[in-house]
Amino acid sequence: MIKRRMFLGLLVAMGATTLMAADPAFDKLDAGKKELMQWFLDNEYGHAPVGRPADMTFQGNSIVFAGKVKVDLTVKLPAGASKEKPCPVILMGDFRAWNNGMHDDKYSHEQDKLQKDIDAYVTSRGYAIVHYNLNEVAPDQPRRRMIASLKQQGKPLPPYPYGVFEVYGGESDRTATSWGTIRAWAWGHSRVLDWIETQPMLDAKRVAVCGHSRLGKTAICAGVTDPRFKITYSNASGCGGAKLNKFKADRSEHIHQITRGFPYWFCQNYLKWRGHDLEITHDQDEWMGLVSPRCLYVASGSKDDWAGPAAEKAAADKVAAAWEKQGLKGKVGYHCHEGGHAFDLRDFKLFLDFCDTRL
Ligand code: GCU
Repeated sequence: MIKRRMFLGLLVAMGATTLMAADPAFDKLDAGKKELMQWFLDNEYGHAPVGRPADMTFQGNSIVFAGKVKVDLTVKLPAGASKEKPCPVILMGDFRAWNNGMHDDKYSHEQDKLQKDIDAYVTSRGYAIVHYNLNEVAPDQPRRRMIASLKQQGKPLPPYPYGVFEVYGGESDRTATSWGTIRAWAWGHSRVLDWIETQPMLDAKRVAVCGHSRLGKTAICAGVTDPRFKITYSNASGCGGAKLNKFKADRSEHIHQITRGFPYWFCQNYLKWRGHDLEITHDQDEWMGLVSPRCLYVASGSKDDWAGPAAEKAAADKVAAAWEKQGLKGKVGYHCHEGGHAFDLRDFKLFLDFCDTRL
């Protein structure tokens, strides 16, 4: 009895935020990293309520959560892939993830073609590519807006319209540190990696997670929170991704703007940092630095002012400098393509050159 009371007392003394440390992201981290991870999950992305769920099943190339939410994967293998020589994998959310939960009907022909070109290019370089529509994990919309727009279009409500939030919580029971959509998507990437581990043609120890823009923010969150990803690549991820907050880039997105447009991507605590970009306790270089000792790759577009290319490069440079001091050399890559907010074959070429000697 005394022991139980002491235990409860200790829990109270530790405070509620420490209790949230159940997020699977904390597994296998050293103390310094735990503190930093805690800060970022408490203040920015929120905590995943569950790791690998016991009720997750695999059905061919699909993942099903609690028999309710189904996520379909597209898998392309390079020529000559075999069980004897499993191939390295590039994992990404595909371009359908820009369709706000409305799925294939808005998957435009150009995006469809670009994804096919990327698949062909990546496999021609000897890598497998796995991609999927992240809206199937969690729609890229606030729940109420999503339901209203489905009704307006006369579409039937799916039984679990809000994806994994409906199954594992974090929507109606939301707290200030509950997972936002970026954390939920990153968690989805980890579940796909669970699936990759069951595939004999794929080498689960050689998986690079990548993504563009909101999915670049997601790729970083996945790489940081799951040490099984060997390389993390963020393309034009900007605010809440690779962009330093404490870097004056006037035309780039700031916290007050991203939390007005997309508050649901983050945990509610992030709203407290509106207007305080320059004073924020920890900046995005520290967040990306949590992928060490694994590799980090960052890319920008020279005219992508909203993402803040100079501030993204400054963050990558800071990570590289900090890691060099720890004896980690050649683990950070960076390029800046000519032009705006794009993610195309030019980026994959340079990224795969980086992967060739590291994945
Ligand atoms: C918006 C948003 C960005 C985001 C981008 C995207 O522009 O403000 O933060 O990166 O959408 O995902 O395309």
